[in-house]
Amino acid sequence: MPPLLIQPGILLGALLAALYSATDISDALAIENSPFLIAVIQGVIAFLAATLLSQPPWWRAIHLIFLPLVAGALQLDLPPWLYLAAFGLLVSVYWRTFRGDVPLYLSNQATAEAARALLPKRGGVRAIDLGAGTGGLLRHLASGRPDGLFTGIEHAPLPFLLARLAASDLSNCTVMRGDFWHHPLGPYDMVYAFLSPLPMPRLWEKAKAEMRPGSLLVSNSFPVPDVEPQRVIEIADRRGTRLYCYSM
Ligand SMILES: C[S@@+](CC[C@H](N)C(=O)[O-])C[C@H]1O[C@@H](n2cnc3c(N)ncnc32)[C@H](O)[C@@H]1O
Repeated sequence: MPPLLIQPGILLGALLAALYSATDISDALAIENSPFLIAVIQGVIAFLAATLLSQPPWWRAIHLIFLPLVAGALQLDLPPWLYLAAFGLLVSVYWRTFRGDVPLYLSNQATAEAARALLPKRGGVRAIDLGAGTGGLLRHLASGRPDGLFTGIEHAPLPFLLARLAASDLSNCTVMRGDFWHHPLGPYDMVYAFLSPLPMPRLWEKAKAEMRPGSLLVSNSFPVPDVEPQRVIEIADRRGTRLYCYSM
């Protein structure tokens, strides 16, 4: 089930706000019963409920501002096509994130540099970025190793298009549109992934089944649960990025 639908904070807040608007509480408090005020009350109640239920900070913030933002935007009287356009843009960037897939966030330059240093030194090396985003990391690898072949797979349409366009002048770099779960990992010396904690056990099973002995799985930020990495590289960036390296 999509995470938004099972958020108890939202449900509880909505229920209490509905009770508030359906009863005489607002009259008793002598407050005008406006949709915006009801939305704010819903947000505050949902925020408190989410806090009591120990939900992560970003969910609490979403609970707090979601309905007030909707009510506020309605009051701006914006043309309906604008909402459709914003929705289209978000879908083209985040694609299947609502199903629990990984959203778009990008490896930084220092991380790309560290990943490049992990590539085997011999010529003809092959590497893949699973979920290449806008392809920055992939281009960094490919431009630094003209002797190698680099592949990126991305399923979200807009990042894929940007990645493909930006890589068009690199002859050793291919960006494909598709689902990396259906792409074999056998040909690669290094597999790079910057995903989330959720898919790591499945990725590990896929890597064990498909990657060649001697090849390297590198996971940015998210370790494989219960598997000791051979090496952890700590990047000196602001977010304290770690690269978990698993030799196959
Ligand atoms: C956190 S971003 C990482 C982007 C890039 N690898 C980097 O390090 O800068 C993860 C990307 O994986 C993509 N993605 C998630 N699941 C995918 C799948 N099953 N197949 C292809 N792409 C996927 C998302 O759309 C997103 O762009």
